[in-house]
Amino acid sequence: MTEPIIELQNVSFSAQNLQIVQNISHKFEEGKTTALVGPSGGGKSTVLKLAAGLLLPTEGAVTFRGKDVSVMSRAQNLAFRKASAVVFQDSALWANQSLRQILELPLKIHFPHMTYEARTARITQVLSETGYKKELDIRPSQLSMGEQKLIAFARAMLCDPSLIFLDEWTESLDESAGNRLVKIIKQKKKEEKTIIFVSHDFRVIEDLADYICMIIDGRLSLVITGEQIAKDDSLALIIEKGIAL
Ligand SMILES: Nc1ncnc2c1ncn2[C@@H]1O[C@H](COP(=O)(O)OP(=O)(O)OP(=O)(O)O)[C@@H](O)[C@H]1O
Ligand SMILES: [Mg+2]
Repeated sequence: MTEPIIELQNVSFSAQNLQIVQNISHKFEEGKTTALVGPSGGGKSTVLKLAAGLLLPTEGAVTFRGKDVSVMSRAQNLAFRKASAVVFQDSALWANQSLRQILELPLKIHFPHMTYEARTARITQVLSETGYKKELDIRPSQLSMGEQKLIAFARAMLCDPSLIFLDEWTESLDESAGNRLVKIIKQKKKEEKTIIFVSHDFRVIEDLADYICMIIDGRLSLVITGEQIAKDDSLALIIEKGIAL
């Protein structure tokens, strides 16, 4: 096993008196791709946000390179944020900003000395890779769900993250757009970036995942390798149907 980059240690999360995640422990290895799978409402998005340090556990700890994310210094937190990027399930684009402003923001924060021309060149490059072709001086509400996903994906790739969190990232995309994003993530995998993604698309899971974590009722109920599902049809069926063993 390679070094864990992110570790969940007995992590539980509750909100509004509801236990959403229950006592999950898991090491996410550096340079590997992990798929979080399971039935709707099972807690996948919550686990992804906990692993990304965007939600703090109500019990237990999440560590990034051995440091508890809840007690990081400002500098450590900025380094964690710069290294990581998230595509949210609902895209989460700022409603009152233009697409250009949304895409410029991460570059302005993490590369404050970058010139306007360099930012524009980087945005153009990433958008052409993701396949977004419309103008940028419009608001997210003027886009379809699929187009919003493309912008959210492009935003995540802008700073060349080494830790990539993707939630239902091929959902609402047509096949060719979905394939284009899968191809980009395959390249990131080759570059040994760490990728943690949620998907209901079995083809995407089979294609990319080194590990598959099944989350049911807020618990980690199964961890298997990509090789195991390739060999065992019954495991493939379990993952595809999102059912417990
Ligand atoms: N902040 C919150 N307050 C109360 N309940 C919440 C909160 N966040 C999530 N939940 C509940 O926790 C459960 C798990 O939610 P989560 O979004 O993590 O599931 P999911 O596995 O990603 O589902 P889906 O496949 O539908 O996206 C759901 O029942 C949801 O309503
Ligand atoms: Mg979800």
